Amino acid sequence: MKTIEINIPNKEYKVHINNGLLYDIDKYIDVNREIVIITDDFIPKEYLEILKTKIAIPLIFEVPMGESSKSIDIAYSIINEMIKENISRGALIIALGGGVIGDLTGFIASVYMRGIDYIQIPTTLLSQIDSSVGGKVGINSEAMKNSIGAFYQPKVVLIDPKTLNTLSEKEFNNGMAEMIKYGLIADKSLFYDILEKDVKENIDYYISKCVEIKRNVVVNDEFDTGIRQLLNFGHTIGHAIEQDSKYGLLHGEAVSIGMSLMSLNTTYQKDLVKTLNKYSLPLNYKYDLEIIYNFIKTDKKVNNNKLNIIVVEEVGNGLIKTIDLEDIKKYLR
Ligand SMILES: NC(=O)c1ccc[n+]([C@@H]2O[C@H](COP(=O)([O-])OP(=O)(O)OC[C@H]3O[C@@H](n4cnc5c(N)ncnc54)[C@H](O)[C@@H]3O)[C@@H](O)[C@H]2O)c1
Repeated sequence: MKTIEINIPNKEYKVHINNGLLYDIDKYIDVNREIVIITDDFIPKEYLEILKTKIAIPLIFEVPMGESSKSIDIAYSIINEMIKENISRGALIIALGGGVIGDLTGFIASVYMRGIDYIQIPTTLLSQIDSSVGGKVGINSEAMKNSIGAFYQPKVVLIDPKTLNTLSEKEFNNGMAEMIKYGLIADKSLFYDILEKDVKENIDYYISKCVEIKRNVVVNDEFDTGIRQLLNFGHTIGHAIEQDSKYGLLHGEAVSIGMSLMSLNTTYQKDLVKTLNKYSLPLNYKYDLEIIYNFIKTDKKVNNNKLNIIVVEEVGNGLIKTIDLEDIKKYLR
């Protein structure tokens, strides 16, 4: 087992990574608390069943799979139901699923009775290496992804890499896009491992490597005003493309296109193309420049017609650069 401490002042928590951990949930949390579980209807039922053998009568919500569940309607209906069921401020909510479930659950926990405890049990590669750690929680408005949300840290993150055995290849590769991002912004040897080795064979090691990179960033900048922005490499264009595709592209796929556009004419462009190809991730997408630009204009990170973008000039070293908003068009080719 590997444990990584996330030392955000006054909000410290641990990330435990252990195969078969789901069966031992009672070792990590008090299963006799009032417990609510939020999950989606596509995640193999066995995971919920395992939890149910340990937790006495949890209240369970199963939302439809996919990005559309990060909505105010779904959050509101769950909150209403929790109130009807007299769920108290002392309750704990468990997010069992991918990034959609983690973001939605964390958001509900952050507002329910002005904030109650929640934990993350991420079951996709993307959520295990990225979204379950760092406390960014939220839902989408019609006009903008992740526009309603908070910074709200979980009490613990429980990662069982075995749950990845049931994940489709496409969803696994979707998570690989974020792993590639970590390599590009912070760890050259990780980037070349991803290109040259079979990451799946040693996935526990790579999950912990990524969580450590994320930890190093978020403990120094919980609220995303400085170094944490490095994690946005490929994301400004990626989010715009994801929305333009009406979520037909997965998050990691859109980020993959974003990273590829941000890396044109760099020394490592060829290696990035090889890596993205290795994981069947897309390099480009047919878009209308003005439409993508309009999405970017509404990005949370735009301030006074300026935008912080992340550039990687050499592998392993991401930099934050402030540009005029209009200049993002240089990357949109
Ligand atoms: N909060 C953050 O810091 C952060 C960071 C990155 C991404 N995100 C968000 O994460 C979301 C994407 O997360 P995701 O890629 O995990 O998508 P997801 O939650 O939609 O999960 C992908 C699919 O995998 C299925 N699934 C989950 N676990 C499974 C398992 N073990 N076996 C088989 N199927 C399984 C789900 O039912 C779903 O259909 C986006 O909304 C994105 O904005 C958040």
